[in-house]
Amino acid sequence: MKYFIKTYGCQMNVADSGGMEKGLLARGWERGESVDGAGLVVVNTCSVREHAESKAMSFVGELVERRQKGEDFRIIVAGCMAERMKDTLKKRFPLVDLVVGAKDIERFAELIENVPGVIPADKKSEVSEPSGISAFVTIMRGCENFCSYCIVPYVRGPEVSRPADEIIEEITARAANGAKEVTLLGQNVNSYHGKSANGATAFPELLEKINAIPGIERIRFMTSHPKDAGDELIKAVTRLPKVCEHVHLPLQSGSDKILAAMNRGYTLAGYSKVVNALRAACPDVSITTDILIGFPGETQEDFEQTLRAVNDIQFDFIFAFKYSPRPGTAAAAKPDDVARDVKEKRHAAILSSLNGIATQKNATLLHTEQEVLVEEKRAGQWVGRTRTNKKVFFESVLVLTGKTVLVGIKRTKINSLYGTFIKIAG
Ligand code: SAH
Ligand code: SF4
Ligand code: F3S
Repeated sequence: MKYFIKTYGCQMNVADSGGMEKGLLARGWERGESVDGAGLVVVNTCSVREHAESKAMSFVGELVERRQKGEDFRIIVAGCMAERMKDTLKKRFPLVDLVVGAKDIERFAELIENVPGVIPADKKSEVSEPSGISAFVTIMRGCENFCSYCIVPYVRGPEVSRPADEIIEEITARAANGAKEVTLLGQNVNSYHGKSANGATAFPELLEKINAIPGIERIRFMTSHPKDAGDELIKAVTRLPKVCEHVHLPLQSGSDKILAAMNRGYTLAGYSKVVNALRAACPDVSITTDILIGFPGETQEDFEQTLRAVNDIQFDFIFAFKYSPRPGTAAAAKPDDVARDVKEKRHAAILSSLNGIATQKNATLLHTEQEVLVEEKRAGQWVGRTRTNKKVFFESVLVLTGKTVLVGIKRTKINSLYGTFIKIAG
């Protein structure tokens, strides 16, 4: 029997889908590429914005319709939206066989045993770690920062760090299976505090331990929270050779009034201090961010402060989101008072500013040689990333999957670089 998993949301959800796959493979299921022919469809949902929920909801609706028309497969709705709506989802869609909220996702394999028809054979086998050049490894679950707009603490629960030894073991196994790069996932990795055989391990020590794993060449992590990003993090980025020169540091807003209303725990000056220290210690570091537009009470002046901050800080990339009230959060009690067309306009202004900044930044890489970890061949071109997380495309007749190569950059765009192969590095 085949399963198909459709994943919405962030990298954490992608990693969770990987965990669910492992459970299914161990029970004799095979991976399918689409709903057609699948005996089981898992929808791993996201709740972060209304739009994310409506996409997942309409996919579930489609599945239910196909079932009503006579197709035979089980439907499982999992993840953050499943957690938020676990009491109503089954009422709304009686044909959904099981709802597994984000807080229960680690018990997925156990929970599906109760669904009739889900275990095709009583075969349970050991499944090896997935192969792949780039591995995503969850180091902590949940969040307790309660930014006033955010649903994550409600659907993922309080912050729990995974034991360091377990993380090291997983990464060692992934490296043995061909992984060269690992991305450590958590809502706020800087506050990681895991147990290990000889006491507690904080984030910088965890990085140090991973840095010692043979086979792993690059270490990335996200997300860093500006309120917890201090000297230790900067030291890790500069001193540990495998830790890449890229930090994703969500600013959200450039207005101190809005930052306080968001409960972010830092001011623009505090944020800029972290950025300046990072750049002083590591001039090539790439800094990307998230900007939240149209938070309740955001005036034109507040927004202009954000725009100025974006222009001053010169981010390498920006993910800009329009505020969407999330039921049950503190901000949802305030009127969503920035009109939709104003949000649109401000969003467009951020993107246009990003366009200028990122294009210009990438142009400085023209005619440089970049170290690229090659991931795959796509449409005849090799694709990999620089240590600063920029995508690079180039051609070569050699088989280069998983190799670190030097590429001469010949052309640059807002979010990708194009070049010619020089040689395999090292
Ligand atoms: N833990 C990360 C972010 C997780 S959510 C952090 O602290 O930055 C990813 C991004 O989604 C956030 O940075 C924010 O910009 C955006 N986001 C979160 N809640 C949102 C909401 N209610 N409406 C619109 N965007 C939101
Ligand atoms: Fe949400 Fe804030 Fe936690 Fe990030 S740190 S997940 S934005 S509550
Ligand atoms: Fe991620 Fe969406 Fe959940 S962003 S943590 S999948 S709400």
